[in-house]
Amino acid sequence: MELAKKVAIVTGAGGGMGKVVVEQFLERGASVGAIDLHIDGLEDLAGKYPQQLVVIQCNLTDEKSVEHAIKKTAENLGRIDILANVAGIAQAATDIEHVSLADWERIMAINSTAVFLTSRAVVPYMKQQKSGSIINIASVSVDRPRPGLNAYVASKGATISLTKALAIELAPYNIRVNAINPGPADTKMLGEFTASGSDEGDTKENIFRKSVPLGELITPEAIANCVLYLSSDLAKMMTGSVVNVDGGRGI
Ligand SMILES: NC(=O)c1ccc[n+]([C@@H]2O[C@H](COP(=O)([O-])OP(=O)(O)OC[C@H]3O[C@@H](n4cnc5c(N)ncnc54)[C@H](O)[C@@H]3O)[C@@H](O)[C@H]2O)c1
Repeated sequence: MELAKKVAIVTGAGGGMGKVVVEQFLERGASVGAIDLHIDGLEDLAGKYPQQLVVIQCNLTDEKSVEHAIKKTAENLGRIDILANVAGIAQAATDIEHVSLADWERIMAINSTAVFLTSRAVVPYMKQQKSGSIINIASVSVDRPRPGLNAYVASKGATISLTKALAIELAPYNIRVNAINPGPADTKMLGEFTASGSDEGDTKENIFRKSVPLGELITPEAIANCVLYLSSDLAKMMTGSVVNVDGGRGI
């Protein structure tokens, strides 16, 4: 996988999946603009890869902050080849009649509108280079929803639709746009999908792991492997694809 000298932007870089995606890009010689609201967990990587890593604190729901973060990455690292939209928030399972408009809008803002904002900001750089790869992390729950995750599933469905719309729009510029649907993954977020919004004892084991035909929760590494593959020339004929990395949960 040839990724040395490439420049990647990773959102949600301080989270369970995002940090592993950042690490794997850095290990393969790529430079990274790592964007997150919470950047404390990225300090060790910043110390280890001072030349390759730019850490940017940014609220992805704020239009100006997103534009600033993308510009800062391009100015510091010279170009933008890859955008991995990993940031997201969960929804505590809630019956539709109890979902507030504020909660609906907050989930949409981070899980789908932020993907629009980052994509819009990187495309001019990619068009100029006549190459680019955008990877959006959606969710297998779009195909296999769990009850009460109404806003979350809708937000990820919008991201998959945007992925396909941009794939056709940007193909003439050799910019590929793909999505990954993770199954239940072993990160902090998983417990946040329960009705109480926090991991309830053995929920991970009893509800989530047992729902995966291959019998294990998805690791952040498994998602990162797919992000790197879709970023690389190995996937040069893939665009508009939605790849399940879900241990068979979507079957
Ligand atoms: N964990 C799962 O089971 C699972 C399953 C399917 C899909 N996903 C998706 O995978 C992606 C990564 O999830 P994760 O499990 O690593 O979760 P996580 O909670 O560990 O990481 C998410 C990151 O997004 C960041 N973020 C949230 N709102 C932000 C904002 N407004 N501005 C900037 N950063 C913000 C958080 O600070 C956090 O670091 C998400 O898009 C999630 O919806 C997760």
